[in-house]
Amino acid sequence: MIDYSKICESVVSAAKLAGGFIREQRQIFKNDSIEYKGTNDLVSYVDKGAEKIVVDKLQSLIADAGFITEEGTLTVNAKEFVWVVDPLDGTTNFIHGLPCFCVSIGLLRNGVAVLGVVYEINLDECFYGWENGGAWMNGNRISVSNTKKLSESLLATGFPYSNYDRMKPYMEVFNHCMYHTHGLRRLGSAAADLAYVACGRLDGFFEYGLSPWDVAGGVLLVKEAGGKVADFKRKNDFIFGREIVAGNSFIMEEFLDVVEEKFSKS
Ligand code: 2AM
Ligand code: CA
Repeated sequence: MIDYSKICESVVSAAKLAGGFIREQRQIFKNDSIEYKGTNDLVSYVDKGAEKIVVDKLQSLIADAGFITEEGTLTVNAKEFVWVVDPLDGTTNFIHGLPCFCVSIGLLRNGVAVLGVVYEINLDECFYGWENGGAWMNGNRISVSNTKKLSESLLATGFPYSNYDRMKPYMEVFNHCMYHTHGLRRLGSAAADLAYVACGRLDGFFEYGLSPWDVAGGVLLVKEAGGKVADFKRKNDFIFGREIVAGNSFIMEEFLDVVEEKFSKS
């Protein structure tokens, strides 16, 4: 029997160790170390170094676990347990010196998130949780907001940056949110967006085109904090399905009505 709470402590340490490395490197980072993986897809030795730190620590925690990692340090699929690692979520913010970037680590069991850690490096805030163990930040239990209506909500999104195929419905949801909510934020880190929904700073979040490592750490936090997560068709394919909506349970239905209606036409 796996003790998730014990494993979670080690995952938190791994995230903080990698976060410390990222914080140090930020002080001396030079833009000539930037590499391009694709259109607008930036990476540097910092992402890769942080990923090695995390993977080294995780490898000893669960025998025979698989790995999906953004920078490809280790890829081992088709296992009961799979670690999903984004060593630096918010790379563009990091490179520009904008203070919102995280280490994000999720553990999937047969494809379902059972443990999540999101460490926001600048504020030194570590969000973590495990199945049936609640969601926490720096030792304190967290929960989603109790905002009742979309019209009273503060939402977040991420703008499409390389896949513009669904721009039309995306802009329709964007437009709706602009007129019918307290506001729409774009932090630049999906892991932070989800962690902030979990602790109630944001009421909801939606984005398309994300990879599993951007969301695998945060989705468990939202659920354990009492919120809901879905794909654009109200189903559960939000880790590998490249579309995600998250929110507190009060606004989620109204939010999904808007997202589902706009995206069903695309
Ligand atoms: P990343 O920083 O790990 O790449 C924000 O919209 C989300 O999209 C982030 O989680 C970010 O993760 C991901 N993303 C990937 N490439 C991006 C890009 N070029 N610009 C903005 N976000 C990007
Ligand atoms: Ca990343």
